Amino acid sequence: MNLSGAIDRAMDWTVVPGFSRIGYEVRRRSWEPQPSVLEGRDVLVTGASSGLGEAAAELLAGAGARVHMVVRNLEKGEDVRAAISERTGGGLRVWRCDVSDLDSVGELARSFTAEVGELAALVHNAGAMPPKRERSAQGIELTLATNVIGPFLLTGLILSSLRSGVPSRIISVSSGGMYTQGLNAEDLQLAGRDYDPSRFYAHSKRCEVILSELWAERLAGSGISAHAMHPGWADTPGLQASMPGFRRVTKPLLRSARQGADTIAWLAGDEQPGRSSGLFWQDRRPRPTHRTRSTKESEADRERLWQECERLSGWSIGASETSAANGGGRTAR
Ligand SMILES: NC(=O)c1ccc[n+]([C@@H]2O[C@H](COP(=O)([O-])OP(=O)(O)OC[C@H]3O[C@@H](n4cnc5c(N)ncnc54)[C@H](OP(=O)(O)O)[C@@H]3O)[C@@H](O)[C@H]2O)c1
Repeated sequence: MNLSGAIDRAMDWTVVPGFSRIGYEVRRRSWEPQPSVLEGRDVLVTGASSGLGEAAAELLAGAGARVHMVVRNLEKGEDVRAAISERTGGGLRVWRCDVSDLDSVGELARSFTAEVGELAALVHNAGAMPPKRERSAQGIELTLATNVIGPFLLTGLILSSLRSGVPSRIISVSSGGMYTQGLNAEDLQLAGRDYDPSRFYAHSKRCEVILSELWAERLAGSGISAHAMHPGWADTPGLQASMPGFRRVTKPLLRSARQGADTIAWLAGDEQPGRSSGLFWQDRRPRPTHRTRSTKESEADRERLWQECERLSGWSIGASETSAANGGGRTAR
């Protein structure tokens, strides 16, 4: 059965059908099984010890990829790895990294690029919505550090492995919450605002989507594509901890983690999305990145976002190619 574009878009536009398990169940009926391009290839998934990251790791291992699970708690990560390996028979390996800590990201990138020459897909899935205002090890607002600056640095520092692995893909797990926020390029850390977990989270998720578009522009023609996506609403430990009230009300409608992770694994391993770059996806279809004009950013603000990410991470695209192997191309902030 082929789901008409109009029905699909109507479900998306009215939010609840599109974001909930209803959207997944209806849309999946039109999906044709395709051979994965990942057999025997290396993929890296951050935040793979829980929720969507764990489910994505399992789907990717099931598709024949060698999965590198990046976790901040090695013991928990090993338990999850063993369970996935038992279920899929796939090869998985655990790496430790706190993605909010730029030094930890630097250490991961150094060991990873030394050991894994060719990377087929880098999945930025780790994410957080801290309940109160906190700062990372380097003093960056923690939501931005975890969801944006750490992943930006990780991409930069392992570009060499992605280049060696072309065709390769960078996938950013954003959120439908980003529709509520425009980019504040003048105050990326929202220092001038009272702390509001949902607003700060949604702003960081808006940054992720714009950055994915900027990576696509900067890497055009390189064989590395960039894709952002949102998973809809999935019942994960993260959702349970950060939005218990929302979960109580919506529980019967929530997707499973596996349903939420489907498009992550599809973006990493299906031929079709590899023919594009810079799009924003949900349930295997490109989606608009704005619902109202008020959230649209200017070209100058987009550039400013990129420059702020370079400044805060200490990594710049100009310095990247020669330095990844010998220290990572970071300079002091
Ligand atoms: N669930 C949803 O409905 C939904 C909707 C929209 C977007 N998302 C996005 O989907 C992604 C996954 O979320 P989830 O719902 O699966 O949440 P989750 O169950 O809390 O999983 C988040 C993962 O990220 C890891 N993580 C958090 N901070 C980290 C850090 N500083 N360094 C390394 N790893 C870190 C966590 O590690 P621990 O296991 O150690 O905690 C966990 O493995 C996030 O980016 C989230 O924003 C989810």
